[in-house]
Amino acid sequence: MHEYKVVVLGSGGTGKSALTVEFVQGIFVEKYDPTIEDPYRKQVEVDCQQCMLKILDTAGTEQFMVMRDLYMKNAQGFAVSYSITILLVRDTEDVPVIFVGDKCDLEDERVVGKEQGQNLARRWCNCAILGSSAKSKINVNEIFYDLVRQINRK
Ligand code: GTP
Ligand code: MG
Repeated sequence: MHEYKVVVLGSGGTGKSALTVEFVQGIFVEKYDPTIEDPYRKQVEVDCQQCMLKILDTAGTEQFMVMRDLYMKNAQGFAVSYSITILLVRDTEDVPVIFVGDKCDLEDERVVGKEQGQNLARRWCNCAILGSSAKSKINVNEIFYDLVRQINRK
């Protein structure tokens, strides 16, 4: 079976863990517990092909960022999360990337315009952008399926 190593990156509190846990376990984690580093595995079928996704949920908190260089080297694809209510993004390389604007259920609290998000995604990594909500189960699978497809195209 094909293995896909992907990393979920982005600033603290933007929804990385909520999206990952929603995708892997189908549960929305309401409580905010800052991550140090959590690995997950999930077998999925994408375009009629079974794949094993190895997902590394990383720390957005600055003090836990020391491992970053290592996983940036080892991963094949990246999901970069920003919250539509908070904006801070890390730099990315020319590799499979999807830009994720999580918490799209909080439309009332939106401070990052849709167009602004799209412009950022284009400027930073010329990559795809997706609005999602771990809470309302919107576009959660799509994030990871898109990464698998991007990696397949490499
Ligand atoms: P670090 O591990 O510190 O980097 O943070 P994180 O990016 O993993 O954030 P986390 O997933 O823990 O989410 C932070 C808070 O936002 C939690 O209280 C979540 O319940 C909440 N949250 C995450 N996704 C959503 C969403 O789609 N909608 C809403 N309303 N809240 C969300
Ligand atoms: Mg987390």
